[in-house]
Amino acid sequence: MAGLELQNVRVWFGGQEILKGVDLSVAEGECLALLGPSGCGKTTTLRVIAGFTQPQQGSVQIAGQAMHGTPPYKRNVGLVFQDYALFPHMTIAENVAYGLQMRRLPKPEITKRVADALAMVQLGHVGERFPANLSGGQRQRVALARALVIQPDILLLDEPLGALDRKLRDQMQVELKQLQRRLGITTIIVTHDQEEALSLADRVAVMFNGSIREIGAPAQLYETPGSREVMEFLGSSNILPGRVTARDGRGGQVELAAGIRLHLPLPLPAGSDAIILGIRPEHVELAPHSQADGALAAELVECVYKGSLVEVHTRLSDGGAFQINASAAQVAQLQLGQRGAMIGIRLPAQHIQVFAA
Ligand SMILES: Nc1ncnc2c1ncn2[C@@H]1O[C@H](COP(=O)(O)OP(=O)(O)OP(=O)(O)O)[C@@H](O)[C@H]1O
Ligand SMILES: [Mg+2]
Repeated sequence: MAGLELQNVRVWFGGQEILKGVDLSVAEGECLALLGPSGCGKTTTLRVIAGFTQPQQGSVQIAGQAMHGTPPYKRNVGLVFQDYALFPHMTIAENVAYGLQMRRLPKPEITKRVADALAMVQLGHVGERFPANLSGGQRQRVALARALVIQPDILLLDEPLGALDRKLRDQMQVELKQLQRRLGITTIIVTHDQEEALSLADRVAVMFNGSIREIGAPAQLYETPGSREVMEFLGSSNILPGRVTARDGRGGQVELAAGIRLHLPLPLPAGSDAIILGIRPEHVELAPHSQADGALAAELVECVYKGSLVEVHTRLSDGGAFQINASAAQVAQLQLGQRGAMIGIRLPAQHIQVFAA
């Protein structure tokens, strides 16, 4: 087992800077989710760690050892590629054995380790089959077994569950988390599914445009993101531009673009009066009506029933969209009315995030 450290890693492809100084530190046994939009450099970061891509600048350390010049097969890193990359002409057992044959392990040892790895992912019975004869979820687990069989110090998973349907993905998430815990293996899992990142990882790193913007525990990053971009990327959010019109010891008076005036008992950014408020839809409260005490008025656009909750889509007076998530029972009880009705909303101060504009 080993920790991992990247310092100021820079990669250019054809004159274009793809990784712009990636700093990342993963503790021994930790599971880190690397999250970010398509093309931001997630796969490239994994390839640098595994040794398939040489950074032009910066360093990679595994267990305190500098990896510069160390080829992939000497790094003891297990990588599950975005598309699994199983060899179609080899059986499942041969696929899993491949990395051990490359390492020239004795045959009985290989046979035993392959059986153990397949059992670990509950696929002991499919060793003689070919990849084409497995389901997507089974292929995914074979790819995982192939990475685990070399007993890697570091496990890198590139969107391992991306091709699976929702139900199978939820199930595999639980299995993956249990396996990772049990083996205590230092893991980076790349995903652009924010729920997956929040539920699987000890910490989440959000990457934009070739560098890591923010890193933290899932709840910390979700509840108190450091920037508007991270807040918007991790889950749904309402973003309200505004200005600070007066400051006092506990916060200040704020006027939003939608004509709404609020007193915020929160620390406001020093230096700039132009601010942005962020609040998650599930933290907005519905008031009984638009004139209710302390409520803001919003025009009802649509109620979308989602099973476990109802998305109430509204419009503020400046035309800006604003979403509230409420329970079906609550929506029924308040009798929100027809499309176009004015309804009341409340923004609990403890759930408002304030960013400098
Ligand atoms: N070998 C390469 N040569 C040139 N450009 C590349 C190469 N590999 C990746 N890129 C570019 O680098 C950028 C980052 O690619 P990368 O595969 O790391 O993104 P990603 O975050 O994994 O995206 P996705 O979520 O779509 O998988 C992209 O613009 C991509 O086109
Ligand atoms: Mg990728």
